[in-house]
Amino acid sequence: MRPQVFETSITTLLGIRHPLLCGGLGPGVSDGRYVAATVNAGGMGFIVSTGYDDPDRFEEELKICRQLTGGKQFGVNLYISRFAGGVERVLDLLHLLDQYGVACVETAGASPEPIIPALKEMRIKVLHKVPAVRYVPTAVRIGADAVIVVGADCGGHPGVYQISSIVQATRAPEIASIPVVAAGGFGTGRQLVAALSMGCGAMLMGSRMMVAEELWVHEDYKRRVVAGDGTESQVVKKLLRDHHRVLDNDSAKAILALEDDKVTDFEAYRPHINGAVTRHAYRSGDVSKGMIDYGPAVVFADKIKPVEAIFDEIVDDAVMAMARLASLQVPQDAVEAKQ
Ligand SMILES: Cc1cc2nc3c(=O)[nH]c(=O)nc-3n(C[C@H](O)[C@H](O)[C@H](O)COP(=O)(O)O)c2cc1C
Repeated sequence: MRPQVFETSITTLLGIRHPLLCGGLGPGVSDGRYVAATVNAGGMGFIVSTGYDDPDRFEEELKICRQLTGGKQFGVNLYISRFAGGVERVLDLLHLLDQYGVACVETAGASPEPIIPALKEMRIKVLHKVPAVRYVPTAVRIGADAVIVVGADCGGHPGVYQISSIVQATRAPEIASIPVVAAGGFGTGRQLVAALSMGCGAMLMGSRMMVAEELWVHEDYKRRVVAGDGTESQVVKKLLRDHHRVLDNDSAKAILALEDDKVTDFEAYRPHINGAVTRHAYRSGDVSKGMIDYGPAVVFADKIKPVEAIFDEIVDDAVMAMARLASLQVPQDAVEAKQ
């Protein structure tokens, strides 16, 4: 593992070595083993609570993560769906977070406001993920400890405005009174340096990490990610105002056809967005069906390798980017001497 290079608002907040966060991957993709790998490699990851048929399976992942990290701090992703159960669905899980010493949560989807007091009570840090800078004041108001701002190029949910990550990561720190994490299309050390220079405290990745050796998804899919050039995604469900960037497969095409026909009944979409179908796709490697969240940052995934190797590569790249910047700066005494 590389030594610490950067001390930022986020490394301090989370007590981690590198300002590298790995977002929750559903359904059930970012499990205890993967999250432990992100933590052991000096970053932070989030076990998704979605994708398990019962809370016992989720608890199993917490147990695995605690064991593999040897008691280091780790995170959980709480996705609050506007469609499937809302905040009620995560309420039953909160006692488990306390029981297993979860240090932080990445909240996403609908507002986590109703559960913030319970999380504070348990001293769990809240990193609320929003898809546009306009929601940053809400994250501050509800008491989030940090805000993750995802731009249009993210795999998963880019939000209805779909503003680029470069604009959002630049603007968010200007208006946020809490630490900001940049996300959406990130996957290199050069981008990390850019995010830090814009005032963010870390970057968060999803798509770039899909080749991590520790992820249980089928090797065939990981090889496909390696081969991807970033043009393979579509944004579906715009008609439902639930924009979703996914791999352009049979399910995505079926949804786009429903949207072309102006179908607004959610039930018509349900068979195509079924979590069990998506999980099967990841397990079998046949991703022709299912909602396979997928962003153009796959282009940075050049090889299947362990999380630690990915982080090392990013840190090395960041160090080189810093050196490049330093080499570009004209020494001011030389400039003054010339004038
Ligand atoms: C395969 C995959 C599954 C994801 N599942 C979830 C999820 O269940 N909950 C969530 O909040 N975000 C989810 N995301 C979004 C990521 O946590 C992260 O915000 C996003 O991937 C960042 O953009 P990037 O893909 O360009 O790195 C998923 C992303 C991917 C690629």
